[in-house]
Order: sequence, then structure tokens, then C-alpha cells
Amino acid sequence: MTIQPPDVRELPLAPRNPLPLRELVKLVRRLDTGQDVIRDAGGPVTRIQLGPAKLVPPIVAVMSPEGMRDVLGRNDAATDRCIIHDEVRRMAGDSLFVLPNQQWRPRKRALQPVFTRPNVRNFGGHMSSAAQAFVDRWPTGGDLDLDVECRRVAMASLGRSVLGVDLNERGDVIARCMHVASSYTADRALRPVRAPHWLPTPARRRARAAVEAMRRVTTEMVTACRADPDRDAPLVQALIAATDPETGRPLSDGEIANDLLIFMLAGHDTTATALTYALWILGHHQQIQQRVAAEAAAIGDRELLPADVTRLGYTVQVLNEAVRLCPPAAGVARMVTRDIEVTGYRVPAGSLVALGLYGLHHDPQLWPDPMTFDPDRFSPEQVRTRDRWQFLPFLGGSRPCIGEHFARLETTLALATIVRAMQITSLDDDFACEVPFTTVAKGPIRARVAPRG
Ligand code: HEM
Repeated sequence: MTIQPPDVRELPLAPRNPLPLRELVKLVRRLDTGQDVIRDAGGPVTRIQLGPAKLVPPIVAVMSPEGMRDVLGRNDAATDRCIIHDEVRRMAGDSLFVLPNQQWRPRKRALQPVFTRPNVRNFGGHMSSAAQAFVDRWPTGGDLDLDVECRRVAMASLGRSVLGVDLNERGDVIARCMHVASSYTADRALRPVRAPHWLPTPARRRARAAVEAMRRVTTEMVTACRADPDRDAPLVQALIAATDPETGRPLSDGEIANDLLIFMLAGHDTTATALTYALWILGHHQQIQQRVAAEAAAIGDRELLPADVTRLGYTVQVLNEAVRLCPPAAGVARMVTRDIEVTGYRVPAGSLVALGLYGLHHDPQLWPDPMTFDPDRFSPEQVRTRDRWQFLPFLGGSRPCIGEHFARLETTLALATIVRAMQITSLDDDFACEVPFTTVAKGPIRARVAPRG
């Protein structure tokens, strides 16, 4: 006898979250810690209705491994990009990040080979020298702001890796542009009622100008690489050479410029936050920090290279634990295009599924003592026995982060380079975050650094 799967139409809706509407409105905008409150009140799959169903789509918050699998582990066309991606698309044009699934597939086919683990070594690895520049700025130590320093490291590294240029002081200008553009876009996406797109509000004009400034830089690089195929900008050259393996179609210059722009946007705050949080938490755990320093020191007193990452296993564990505790992408969303089942509930077409990575990574049912920093959670033995949908900083399933290998390479080299050279002591017990799009620090994160003897 075979057991028939239940007809999705007969399944109940996910339980409605019992919190009062006013509180839910605030929590939904608080994209990280708000998830814990929503989960504790309504369970790891819970429905939120922020307004009349005819005007505001229901949100189904999903924060369990089974729920993640049911949404992300499918290869059919039942979910697609949502309002957040649409807003980014309007602002920054078509790119891998925003294209609806059907248009995304050929773009992904062309780009994927560029981002495989062996290939990212051809253009990644600049984080070591960017991190060394940070170390060299503080030869005798002192008090500094980890947030500012790590953002500089990430920008310098991305400039070299993604664009093939030393951005120097242009890096700060680009970082400001990215902040203006992403804050405006995320703020719009999260509003239940939005001004029409054609309305030239001052915030919109500023965001547009910021995007144009960034696009000038990426377009300039594509033009320069077309003119000089030997120019040392391996990622841009690889994108110029990339073709869709099925159709042989290459990417146009406009497509490449847009993708470079989105790599900068998607890669900057995320890698900076991962590094900042890891350094801050190590600044509170001197023994663990010493172990990271010893691991890197065992490689020798030379620049760390991509090939060294295999010898930095404990550093990788620390970074995993850092992005569990502080996932740079706290959550992502998908629009449901036809009724689907999620952990035994029916999620109707037209719903917005909010995949809460922060809530998933902090659930005490999944992570004993979830707020405790414990890199041993990521020892090979523990990882082997864990559900693969329980830890998803780079998402997973059919449409994950294309930059994962690159980001892992960069942050591992940077963390090891800095901690090998300097002892970090965190001066603040906590620091506030905001989540305009990705998670970023709200203010300075003070630390004392001293060269290691
Ligand atoms: C610690 C660093 C990073 C984290 C935690 C992270 C996380 C994520 C997550 C969760 C998504 C899914 C977003 C969604 O579907 O709405 C994503 C997508 C994406 N990320 Fe990353 N990311 C990181 C670094 C990077 C870097 C360095 C790059 C570029 C070189 C990058 C490029 C992208 C792109 C292009 C997408 C869209 C992929 C697609 O839809 O096919 N990311 N990332």
C-alpha cells in the first residue's frame, strides 16, 4: 500500500501569530531580533497579517529546518523574487540578485563557473593584503572602531577582487553610496504603503544618484577591460569571457556592469559584518582568540594565501559560529506563486514567505544555549550530524548566495591575518545593530589592539 501525500488544498493554514498587530508591525521591521519574538509567540512557522488581506499579502514566517527545506529545497517554480528584489531591480537594474527565476537561469548558468571554489582563488585572496594594511595602520596598537576598520578592509578587498582596482579614498565614497541606495530601497520595500515610483522624492533622487555613481565605476572597469584584455582584473575578464553553456550567449557590457555593482552591494556589508562580529566576539574570548592566532602563526610569518585555508580549520569554525550568532543576511523573502505545503501547512499563492535566518540560528530547540559563543558547534563531528537546513547564512537550495566560496575565502584570510598580528580586546559588552537590508552595526564598536609579541 502506498501512502498518498495530502492534497495541499486540504491542509490548514499556518497558525496565526497571536501577538498584537501593533507589536507585529514593529517586529517585522526589526529584521533580526524581532524574529525570536515572533517565533517564541507563534512557533517556527507562523502567519502574520499586517492589514486587510485584499491589500496586504499574508506573511508566513519560516524559522525551522523542515520549513526551510520545504521552501528552498524545491526545484519547481512555486516561489520567486518578491517586493524587496523588485525594489532593488528598479533602483539598480537587472542583475543576478533580482532577476525572476526564468530570466535568472541563463544568467546563473553563465556566472556559476566563475564562482566555483577553485576559481574564486583566481580573483579572491586580496583580503590578506587588505587586512595586513589594517594591521600596519596600528603598528603600536591603540583604541579603534572595529566597524570602521573592517568596512575599510572589506571595501579594499572587494575593489581589488571584484573590480580589479585599488579604490583607495574612492572606497569611502562608494561605501556611502551603497549605504544611501540600500537604506532607501529596503525602507521602501518594508513599507505597507509606498509613494509611486515616478514621484521624485529627495530620498529617491539621492538613492538614484548614488547608484549612478557606483555604476560609473563598474562601467568604467568593463570598458577598460574590453580595451585591454590583459588588464589585471580577473573577475571582470572572467565575466567578459563567460557564456551561457547551453546557448553560447555572452553577457552584454550592461549586464556585466550591473552584476559587478550587485557583487559590491551584496559583498560589502555582509563580509564586513562577518569579520567585525568575529573580531568583536574574539575580543571577549581570549583563549579562543589565542587558538586562532596559533593556528595562523603555525603557517609562518608570511602573507596568508588561498591555499592556506585548508590549514585554518579552527578559524573557519569561529567564523561559522560568528555568522550563526550574527547572520549578515538576517532573513530573506520569497513570493509564493502557487499553493505549497510547508511543514504540513498550506501556504497559498500570493503569500510572502519570510525565511528567518536569525530565528533559525537562535532557536534554543536547535542550538542549546543559543547566545553562547562556542565554535565547537562547528567541529567536523557536530557538523556531520546536523540537519543541513539548520545553518543557512548563505541560504541554500535552488538559489543560494553565489559569493559563498569567495566570502568564506576572504573572511578566513582576513581574520587569520589580523589575529595572528594583533591581540584584540573588546571594550563594549554589546553593540547595537540595524538591519536596513543586511545586518550592520549601528554605532562604533570599540576595541583595544596590541601587537602580539
Ligand atoms: C558573509 C558574506 C555573505 C553572506 C552572509 C551572504 C548571504 C547571502 C544570502 C542569504 C543570499 C540570498 C538572498 C536572497 O535570495 O534574497 C545571497 C545572495 C547573493 N549573494 Fe551573498 N552573501 C555574502 C557575500 C557575498 C559576496 C562576497 C558576493 C559577491 C561576490 C555575494 C553575492 C550575492 C549574489 C549575487 C546573490 C544573489 C544570488 C542569486 O540570486 O542567484 N554575496 N547572499
